[in-house]
Amino acid sequence: MENSIQDLKISAEKTPSLGGRGASISVFAPATVANVVCGFDVLGFAVNEPGDEVVMRITNKPGITISKITGDNGRLPLDPAKNTVSVSVQHYLQSVGRTDIGLDIELHKKMPIGSGLGSSSASTVAGLFAIKTLLGDDADPARLLPFAMKGEEMACGHGHADNVAPALLGGFVLIRSYDPLDVVRLPHPAGLYCAIVFPDVDVPTREARQIIRNKILMKDAVTQWGNIAGLVSGLFMQDIDLIGRSMKDILVEPVRSMLIPDFYQMREIAMNLGAVSFGISGSGPSVFAFTRDEETAKLITKKLQQHLTGIQIGSNTYVSTINDKGPRVL
Ligand code: HSE
Repeated sequence: MENSIQDLKISAEKTPSLGGRGASISVFAPATVANVVCGFDVLGFAVNEPGDEVVMRITNKPGITISKITGDNGRLPLDPAKNTVSVSVQHYLQSVGRTDIGLDIELHKKMPIGSGLGSSSASTVAGLFAIKTLLGDDADPARLLPFAMKGEEMACGHGHADNVAPALLGGFVLIRSYDPLDVVRLPHPAGLYCAIVFPDVDVPTREARQIIRNKILMKDAVTQWGNIAGLVSGLFMQDIDLIGRSMKDILVEPVRSMLIPDFYQMREIAMNLGAVSFGISGSGPSVFAFTRDEETAKLITKKLQQHLTGIQIGSNTYVSTINDKGPRVL
């Protein structure tokens, strides 16, 4: 991690600031599905929608302000010392020696908070990509990861990277190691669709992490790492059947599924409709299914939404392919 920050510093110093005063940029960063069922804290992928937008403007006065947040129902702090976007951007500015800059940030939440879709990650990554672009820093976006992880730590008490890494890099990502940070981009079969349903119940990641067991049995570990290796092999081999049969989680899902209304009923519906796999997205309550085509993904979201309506729970649905691009300037 030390090396990453050092390299970033050199790169930013080499490239002159594009940002005259008043320069501004608008960036979108995508939602992500972390864990991918069996890979707790080590696997994640980005989707095309939903996602968040950050508008960043260079100002005259050194320091960061947040002038506006929309779409959060007043839940997120405007105080730059408490907001994950400004805090991670501040860490970045410190590392590149540019705390002389003044910045104003607008955050437009286009996705639900506490959904298990990497909401805080999408905001943080949009902010970091915006400042990197404003400064003309052409370093590999992966260099921004340590700063994005600081944002995660602030949002939920733990700096996991399985949302921020795919949001930043796009595609399917493996966190091979946290110390030292080692992130691997994985291939994936073309034409894999993701059906996402967000049941309108609140599951804060901080709390969903606290209920997980800290110790596991060796026989369970064997099952789990067999499945993770099977999933990664399936991605490389473009073997969708292998991907499907590997996406099983005996460690986390049995506990977290209790926080999700009718989780097992929803799984049965999705699998009966032809899903390749079904599970919790990140820490929930969103659930997702992989499918081989868009029609099946749409049908699954429709039927799951109908099921949730039947038990008086509202929901949002999304159908997407895997997003290989990550953040983009709007
Ligand atoms: N790996 C994290 C968790 C992702 O499951 O807690 C949170 O979205």
